Amino acid sequence: MNKLGVNIDHVATVRQARGADEPDPVWAAVQAELGGADGITIHLREDRRHITDRDAELLKQTVASKLNLEMAIAPEIVKIAVRLKPDQCTLVPERRQELTTEGGLNVTRLKRRIKPVVTRLRRAGCLLSAFIEPDETQLRASAECGFDAVELWTGEYAHAKDDAAFSQALDRLVRAVETGWKLGLDVHAGHGLTYRNIEPIAELGAFSEFNIGHSIVARAMFSGLREAVREMKDLLNGAAQRAAAYDLRDEQGDLVMP
Ligand code: PXP
Repeated sequence: MNKLGVNIDHVATVRQARGADEPDPVWAAVQAELGGADGITIHLREDRRHITDRDAELLKQTVASKLNLEMAIAPEIVKIAVRLKPDQCTLVPERRQELTTEGGLNVTRLKRRIKPVVTRLRRAGCLLSAFIEPDETQLRASAECGFDAVELWTGEYAHAKDDAAFSQALDRLVRAVETGWKLGLDVHAGHGLTYRNIEPIAELGAFSEFNIGHSIVARAMFSGLREAVREMKDLLNGAAQRAAAYDLRDEQGDLVMP
């Protein structure tokens, strides 16, 4: 529970802003692992705006924890992933104009295109995860496609404007986790998670993995990446301990909020 995948895309963003060779995401992955990261997450985008093919190749050789490749189902990227064989592939939607991944993959609509991609990547030895919104239809479609896991989009939770919206978003995530478990899926979470909002969601003790990027890389500018990762890991570990102390199931076996 509460494993931390550190998304290092934005280290590469700084490098690409100058077309230079530093800062190197390979160095970042080492620092993140020394700080306690359970995995390194990268998104090899079709436009290569941050992570490049060279980074992906080197990280495959150097990451000692778990390499999670976020990727679109574009044939060129699928081909690279099949060759690279990262530990995990997380299929995400991708639009060129977006600043970051906005919302989840529409697995329901794209099922016929997604299924063969899942089969090919599984044959390559990768674990498969789908980045989706916390929605029952999307969860069912993901299970039907043969994914091992889903990563629930936490944007609604992260951007909630008031307490009511926050509780509603958290409740939606809880219901999605229950559905995911019933379908035999491992459930991850990511997008917009920060040092300020991580605790309530991590205290559920329901997510096996959190993928966090922007907030950690932003803090790293002031405290260094190793320390920034350590601080996030401490919050996740504290939340996991508190979660273990709650009785998380009711008589029906459903998850209850602490
Ligand atoms: N998970 C997925 C699937 C993402 O696309 C992203 C953004 O690249 C993240 C997690 C990390 O989001 P953030 O940078 O907001 O922490």
